[in-house]
This record gives sequence, C-alpha cells and structure tokens, in this order.
Amino acid sequence: MDFPLYAPAEEHDLLRETVRALADEKIAPHAAEADETGEFPWEVYKALVASDLHAVHVPEVYGGAGADALAAVIVIEEVARACASSSLIPAVNKLGTVPLLLSASEEVKRRYLEPVARGEAMFSYALSEPEAGSDAAAMKTRAVRDGDDYVLNGVKMWITNAGVSDYYTVMAVTDPAAGARGISAFVVEKADTGVSFGPKERKLGIKGSPTRQVILEDVRIPAWRMIGEPGTGFKTALATLDHTRITIAAQALGIAQGALDYAIGYVKERRQFGKPVADFQGVQFMLADMAMKLEAARQLTYHAAAKSELAMHGKPQKDLTFLSSAAKCAASDAAMDITTDAVQLLGGYGYTQDFPVERMMRDAKITQIYEGTNQIQRMVMARQLLK
Ligand code: CAA
Repeated sequence: MDFPLYAPAEEHDLLRETVRALADEKIAPHAAEADETGEFPWEVYKALVASDLHAVHVPEVYGGAGADALAAVIVIEEVARACASSSLIPAVNKLGTVPLLLSASEEVKRRYLEPVARGEAMFSYALSEPEAGSDAAAMKTRAVRDGDDYVLNGVKMWITNAGVSDYYTVMAVTDPAAGARGISAFVVEKADTGVSFGPKERKLGIKGSPTRQVILEDVRIPAWRMIGEPGTGFKTALATLDHTRITIAAQALGIAQGALDYAIGYVKERRQFGKPVADFQGVQFMLADMAMKLEAARQLTYHAAAKSELAMHGKPQKDLTFLSSAAKCAASDAAMDITTDAVQLLGGYGYTQDFPVERMMRDAKITQIYEGTNQIQRMVMARQLLK
C-alpha cells in the first residue's frame, strides 16, 4: 500500500456515498417502524442484496463482492447511521462466516458462503449460552461423535438474527475433559431436524434484529460440517472476534454519526431566548466534544480494520487483538456518550419517539455489551499489555 494503513482510498469514499444514498432512500424510512414493531426489516434486506451490500466481505472466489475490512466497516457504519437494526445484516453475516473463512475446509466454504453471497441465506454466530456469557469457554452444549455424524444438544443464547438466518456457526464441547481445547465449531442449518428457536428477547434497542435462543435437541449433522479440526473451535471463535469486534465499532460509529448529524440540524433550527440554540457556547462545546470523540474512535476503528485486512490475508498482526478490542470499546463508549448528548441537545423533544435520537441512544447501548462487554474488552487489552 502506498497510503497510510488507515486511510480510506478513493473507492472507499465512493462506497460511502453509494451506501449513504441507499440508506437515506431505502433504510432510514423503515428505521422507526422496525423499532416500533420489532419486525425484521425484510425490505431493507432486499435493498441491500439488490446493491450487493448485505455481505460485502465474502471473497469473490465464493461469489461475493470481495470487499476489504475497511469497506465492510464503511458499509456497516453507513447503514447504522440510518438504522442500527439493519446494520446487523452485513455485520452478522460477517460474524457468522469469518469462522469459515479462517478455518473451514474448501468444501464447507463453497457450500455455505456462496448462498450468503447470493443473498439467499444469512449466517449467525452461536457462542454464548444462558450460563456462559463473558466466560464463553464454560459452555455446556455438547457435540458427540456417532459414526459419520455429530449429534448436538444444548441451548445457545443471545443469538443475533436467530430465526431469520439459515445457517449458524455453533461452538460445542466435543471433549469435556479438555476445557477450552475441547470445543469445536460446526455449521448448523435452521432446517436441521431438532433445531428450534426461543421467543424473541424483549430488548431496549436494536428491536428490528431478532435475538433468540437457538435450541439444539439431538441435532444430527454430518462430521464434514465441523469447521477446522476437533478442539480448535474456541480459538476460531476468539480469532473471529478479533476481526468482527471492529464491525461493532463500525455500528457504534454509525449510530453516533446519525445522532450527531440530527442534533446539529436541530440546534441550528431550534430558537430559544431569541436565537438559534446553536449560538450558545455551551451547546457548541457539546457538539465539539461529540465530534471529537467520534473522529478519534473512527480513526482507531479504521486502523484496526486495516490490520484485520492484513491478518485475513496471511500477514498476522500481533496487535490485532488489542486494536479490535480497543476500537470496539472506544467506539461504543463514544456512541453512548454522543447519543445521550444528542438527546440532551433536543431537550424534551429528544426524549420522545417523535425524534430519532432516543432510538439511537437505546440502540447505542448494545454496542457496549455484545461481542464481549466493554469490561471484557478491557480485560483483553490488559492481557495483551501484560503478556
Ligand atoms: N485468537 C485466537 N486464540 C485465542 C485468542 C485470540 N484472540 N485469545 C485467546 N486465544 C486462545 C488462547 O491462546 C487459549 O489457547 P491455548 O490454551 O491453546 O493457549 C484459548 O484461546 C483460551 O484462551 P483464554 O485462556 O484466554 O480463554 P478465557 O477462558 O480466559 O477467555 C475471554 C478469554 C477473552 C474472556 C473470552 O472468553 C471472551 O472473549 N469472552 C467474551 C465472550 C464474547 O465476546 N462473546 C460474544 C458473543 S458473540 C455476540 O455477542 C454476537 C452478537 O450478538 C452480534
């Protein structure tokens, strides 16, 4: 590369313009409705598929757009600026499929990545369980070898886009005596006998993206659906998060940008004491802080994305684990602050559903929690510093 690692190229800027135009026209109009009804925004999914933006990271060899990690970040950011729930379409398609890209056989990759690239199937990621959240290695879901098959039993929890996705990367214990080294990863299909889903969680935000349990009862799958070697599933799961925590950072950036843009427009129009509230220095300082935090988080996220891209292409980056946790943590904390300030800048109106900033504030909260709470991110960063 002849430009700094983190600098978007001209095609990244063009991509941003394209996604923003699509988001303004076809995604933003559905955002309040998805939040209110809690229904998955199929219209948005169709629009993303029509523009080949639903899973941009899938390599061309599997029929995908072959976009780099920074491009995927920009897509997620711009979709989230309009609708956080919808941004989970490209984000979770990436989360579900990175384990395959990192570790699966060519047969598994072809079989499962191609339908995702064509927009015929979505892919979710099933790591957490009711009693294994931050302590993911404490999972209980079992996969027992039986001839040419594995039989899976257990309950996965907090699974984003569960029920709407056709495919699931499921981590399960194959050797209970081996701890984290006894966990393996598998592709499970929604159509497999014994797969069912819990009721939709009733959440504070991202309501248009279903979060449900994935319940596995004697689910028999062929052994070739294992992703990588037996016992490598936990490492694959964590290596995946090194790439995809960056996409949660992207989502946070987008939500925050949406809130900042809305607040800027509002304070220029809203008049109190005979002048626009934007004329008050107290308001100006708030805006400046919001934009400063956002830009700092954005640069960190883009830098992490550049590292992710290199790592995906056979150039391991020793600071990727630190940077992806740092980006996710910084961007989500920034998004929480910025959306809360946006509500404040709109005053009483900001607190109502007549304006989008209260939704953005509710949506921002999840980015501090999923793909590892920000406490876990700080633990990951500290471990990297001290090791
Ligand atoms: N890449 C590859 N391997 C890694 C790794 C990484 N980044 N980090 C650790 N490992 C390896 C370790 O080397 C170790 O292997 P060896 O024993 O062979 O050396 C193994 O993985 C276990 O590592 P640890 O002992 O560090 O594991 P731990 O049990 O202490 O857990 C943790 C580490 C960081 C706390 C991890 O459990 C974690 O990240 N927890 C948070 C869980 C999480 O992020 N869940 C998100 C769910 S997905 C989601 O939320 C999606 C959504 O809805 C959108």
